[in-house]
Amino acid sequence: MVVSQNAIASQVGMEVLMAGGSAVDAAVATAFALAVVHPAAGNIGGGGFLLLRRADGEAAVYDFREQAPAAATPTMFLKDGRYSSELHHDSPISVGVPGTVAGLHTAWRDNGKMPWRELLAPAISLARDGFMVTDGLARSLREVLPRMKRYPASIAQFSRQGVPYETGDPFKQPELAKTLERIAEREARGFYEGETAELIEKEMKALGGLITKEDLRDYQIYRREPLRGSYRGDDVLTVPPPSAGGVALLECLNVLEGYDIKGMGFGSSAHVHHVVEALRRAFADRARWLGDPGFVKDMPTEKLVSKEYAEALRKTIREDRASVSSPSTFEWPAESAETTHFSVVDARRNVVAVTYTLEDGYGSKIVVPGAGFLLNNEMGDFNAGPGLTDESGLVGTQPNLAAPRKRMLSSMTPTVVVRAGHPWFVTGSPGGRTIPSTVLLTVLNVLDFGMNPQEAVDAPRFNHEWLPDVIRYERYGLSADTLDALAARGHKVQEIEQQGVAEAILVGPAGGLIEGGCDRRSPDGAAIGR
Ligand code: DON
Repeated sequence: MVVSQNAIASQVGMEVLMAGGSAVDAAVATAFALAVVHPAAGNIGGGGFLLLRRADGEAAVYDFREQAPAAATPTMFLKDGRYSSELHHDSPISVGVPGTVAGLHTAWRDNGKMPWRELLAPAISLARDGFMVTDGLARSLREVLPRMKRYPASIAQFSRQGVPYETGDPFKQPELAKTLERIAEREARGFYEGETAELIEKEMKALGGLITKEDLRDYQIYRREPLRGSYRGDDVLTVPPPSAGGVALLECLNVLEGYDIKGMGFGSSAHVHHVVEALRRAFADRARWLGDPGFVKDMPTEKLVSKEYAEALRKTIREDRASVSSPSTFEWPAESAETTHFSVVDARRNVVAVTYTLEDGYGSKIVVPGAGFLLNNEMGDFNAGPGLTDESGLVGTQPNLAAPRKRMLSSMTPTVVVRAGHPWFVTGSPGGRTIPSTVLLTVLNVLDFGMNPQEAVDAPRFNHEWLPDVIRYERYGLSADTLDALAARGHKVQEIEQQGVAEAILVGPAGGLIEGGCDRRSPDGAAIGR
């Protein structure tokens, strides 16, 4: 089974499985297909994390997070001494060195069974011969087009000379097809060296961006040990730093294990309160401690995901009262929009969870002229600048300040739950700093509330991320009574449209039916299996 945010991409992955490919082969083909059919987040110009849990119990994380170019500095997002959100999130210097192609290539080299070329072939024909624009893609392109105005190659790629595509139009991306062919031909070198690298460097120079051919040549992926934890007897595998998502997930699960979440009842104020208090603490710890492990040497990751630490944190949570977040609250007094995730399971029960991203929808909005793909704006995931932590949620703590070749902290949380040695449940989601909460809630929905995967991904969500000190909840997601009860505890709340797009598979007991859950919040997704 393959569950992704795009039905064509899920089908591409499924066909690889049917042809005898492994879950990793299917993931590679799905990822390249998403780069064509789901350009808002599917990518070759971004980065992410692939979590593999093999049927024999071995597990690995492929960290293909973008990294800062050699010219990066901690104060690079300041203009005349003042923080500039535009420089940080929406400028040529917001582009990090892409990792996707290297990550997919290494995961395939280690675990693939099918020839590399064959895994790229569907993406190449989708780009060259085109596919039909869905209503969802038409809407998304219409929305982003005005924001691409500064970049003529982007307008050329994603519209008909500035006129938005309509639902049902054929959409071809010939330059992207050529870049994918170079990657098919020369493997990762087809991206990091030669023509593609030259085109990236040329555009970066033209726009005042920082990435050079040397930055591209020196990019490397890391194979990391998955971060391991447990929840009520099930094992939980997820990703370590430079994502903060896995640490947050395990920290919250450990805290919540001490409460009768099921007994509180789904959507009750007690359920929301306890999840929020766990998230608040996890996000404060993230700001205080976490960054690229290659740079931040004193990260207490083991401690943060330990049961003992969770017990200490529980002592700081009052049943009847919200804690208060502030930029300087890291100790708790003991007073009692675009990324994409897909999940794959093959016939042998090898499981792959991939979350990858351009950061914002369509990333930096910069298409590399002549190469047909979008560059990320992932540098925006570094902290704003030294000391800039404030009530609005701007974070300026040390561990995640920009530096040459450093990786920006992520929230991506691809996750696999293992029960009695067998893969049980796999999920992940986009949504930036809301990702850990989406994954946490989805896991609780299945493990505590007994929902099936479709119910688990459809259920309403909420998030708290330390700062700003507010619970953001999905429209219609919490009853008026619940909101009153939360306010009585001192929580501030804010209604939002939607949170995350979780794609989940319940693998369940060996020999049983595999069930998919495809998030209704995104229009074009599909769970396809047999
Ligand atoms: O790595 C991260 O956590 C973010 N750059 C992900 C961005 C994201 O999920 C935006 N999507 N809606």
